[in-house]
Amino acid sequence: MATPLVIDTDPGIDDALAILLALASPEVDLRLVTTVHGNVELAQTTDNALRVLHLAGRADVPVAAGARDSLVYRQPERAGHVHGETGLGGVELEPSPAAPDPRPAVVAMAEVLLAAETPVTVAAIGPWTNVALLLATYPEAAERIGRLVLMGGSAGRGGNVTAAAEFNVWADPEAAQRVLGSGVPTVLVGLDVTLPTVLDDDGIARFAAAGPVGETAAAILRQYVDHARSTYGTTGVVLHDALALTEAIAPGTLGTVRRDVVVDTTLGAGRGQTLVDRRSVSSSPTAVEVAETVDSVAAVEFLVTRLAALARSAR
Ligand code: BDR
Ligand code: CA
Repeated sequence: MATPLVIDTDPGIDDALAILLALASPEVDLRLVTTVHGNVELAQTTDNALRVLHLAGRADVPVAAGARDSLVYRQPERAGHVHGETGLGGVELEPSPAAPDPRPAVVAMAEVLLAAETPVTVAAIGPWTNVALLLATYPEAAERIGRLVLMGGSAGRGGNVTAAAEFNVWADPEAAQRVLGSGVPTVLVGLDVTLPTVLDDDGIARFAAAGPVGETAAAILRQYVDHARSTYGTTGVVLHDALALTEAIAPGTLGTVRRDVVVDTTLGAGRGQTLVDRRSVSSSPTAVEVAETVDSVAAVEFLVTRLAALARSAR
């Protein structure tokens, strides 16, 4: 039986790919998408999520909007320079016939969690504000989370927004601390495993050739490829969120070690850093499984094969 899945997201180019990957994967049953502030404003992430689902012919998946900003301090800036001003690389997808779900994200999440017949996987691939609010508001629902797969943080790679901080944690460090300290079974998919996992032009060309949905996914990626090329001199793109979804879909894709993690919530240069204690394996009930190793070639192949299959089936 497919594992029930909720994706909490801020689309976002790599978020869009992650949603498509979930829809392409029979191991999971995407029951709800919740949206959060992050790469662009909440109204835009919500509209983008609706359009991405519609692109794949899955406007039936409900989209519930969540937090407009972080819990304590406002997110300093958005990421339009990476994802395009509207978040999808300048590509205008067809509007969805579906309206956003009228429920606030945390209410929708709680209802899906409590109604599910088996434990639910929650993949949080934007700032973790909604997840923190869920834990605080509906702890009984949060107990139904079988696995919480978080994209964010870094153990040994430094940051990608500041020298210390990865974007999703930097965007709401207080929420991140709340989530990482919760004791919910958690896998942390951070820059240590995402940065080496690069999708190059050949991979993009493979799903682009498989049908219009693949072509559109490739068009959305173009801005990201250009940004990576001009900023880092790389020939491919890091699909942070799609790698987190791969671990959500196929548990054990990543090599993890149980670690104690705290978030720097001070207001200095280290704000948003995930301090991962790698001196030892932790037995603490609030420790998290930190992804430390990845077979990047296999992970990219998984993504490309699944997206190509989705594009072929939607043709
Ligand atoms: C994360 O930041 C966002 O810009 C991406 O969508 C991803 O979730 C990577 O640091
Ligand atoms: Ca994201």
